[in-house]
Amino acid sequence: MSSTGGPLNAGVLGATGTVGQRFIVLLSQNPMFRIHSLGASERSAGKAYRLAAKWKLSDPMPDEAREALVKPCDPAQFAGCDVVFSGLDASVAGDIEGAFLAADFAVFSNAKNYRMVPSVPLCVPVVNTDHYALVAGQRAASGRKKGFIVTNSNCSTSGLVVPLKALQDRFGPLRRVVVTTLQAISGAGYPGVASLDILDNIVPLIEGEESKMEAEVLKILGGVSADASACAPLTDLRVSATCNRVPVIDGHTECVSVEFAAATPPSIDEIKQCLREYTCEAQRLGCYSAPAQVMQVTEEEDRPQPRLDRNAGGGMSVTVGRIRECPVFHVKFTLLVHNTVLGAAGASILNAEYAAKKGYL
Ligand SMILES: NC(=O)c1ccc[n+]([C@@H]2O[C@H](COP(=O)([O-])OP(=O)(O)OC[C@H]3O[C@@H](n4cnc5c(N)ncnc54)[C@H](OP(=O)(O)O)[C@@H]3O)[C@@H](O)[C@H]2O)c1
Repeated sequence: MSSTGGPLNAGVLGATGTVGQRFIVLLSQNPMFRIHSLGASERSAGKAYRLAAKWKLSDPMPDEAREALVKPCDPAQFAGCDVVFSGLDASVAGDIEGAFLAADFAVFSNAKNYRMVPSVPLCVPVVNTDHYALVAGQRAASGRKKGFIVTNSNCSTSGLVVPLKALQDRFGPLRRVVVTTLQAISGAGYPGVASLDILDNIVPLIEGEESKMEAEVLKILGGVSADASACAPLTDLRVSATCNRVPVIDGHTECVSVEFAAATPPSIDEIKQCLREYTCEAQRLGCYSAPAQVMQVTEEEDRPQPRLDRNAGGGMSVTVGRIRECPVFHVKFTLLVHNTVLGAAGASILNAEYAAKKGYL
């Protein structure tokens, strides 16, 4: 809530895109926020949102967005916003988000541009809200009173780090993780992958995705420096990712093998119990978008599946199944994450709810 007790005014940059549309649906249902300003490219600016956006969600376009005039992504046009969410294309996100930051806005970004900057929290809000300690350092270094930037991770990373965090917290450091992803086409934005490339097919390359996953996991599962000026990524964990695009609309599936550092690994039953019992600070604070259950552990032998499980916890829960011994590492399992909810807009919104509860906004 704002200082006057009403909902926070939210701006959305990249409001017409795949992530932007998800932001609009989720914000319209969220009592903590009111949609205030929508921004996109010069191609869309000046048009009513219903004409600028090629609406692709099965949820109807919310009334408060339909007739709103899309603005250019210029900070002066977003005066009055308490918080700015970004679903901007990475080719422009660096400059535009930087301009909003310089204009003292609180920015919550989905783009890759600032994720690996040491002073920027790369925050999956059900995993590492402790990284908000970096915000004070950002403000001190820049002299800004209100402005800061928090990013959320790549959509595949956001699913992977959830069980890894639970396992690391309960059973100690992890030594090696191998992950193979089966990623939905909505992860590529709109128009994304050509239908002739993806129908009846699998594309075994998502440009830049594997290195992003491998680096982001280390930052998210690591800590922050003692003076809270920079992140302190893990140095002992090795992660190997293989990323594939598959003909699924929403929901990234990931097949994961994990090796613990401890000589005696936990049993499969202990691992299942650990994942079921995992809770996060955003839940304890009563944040509106925090899922009741961070991970839904399924015993059904052929789950998770994207069509059946992507909306678990409103898209904010990760579903984990097929948990079994790994003959090479210690344990292997399959997980499913909704790539535009916990993997994108939903995570950003929960990040902002957390920031509000902790007094950063
Ligand atoms: N899709 C996912 O599952 C997912 C998950 C996590 C993170 N992300 C990240 O989130 C961001 C958005 O992804 P997306 O899938 O939503 O992409 P998208 O569908 O291609 O949407 C891109 C948005 O950026 C706007 N834009 C493009 N050029 C612009 C410019 N010069 N000035 C202002 N706005 C401009 C577009 O506006 P116009 O409509 O006017 O062109 C559109 O609103 C990307 O950085 C992506 O990597 C995506």
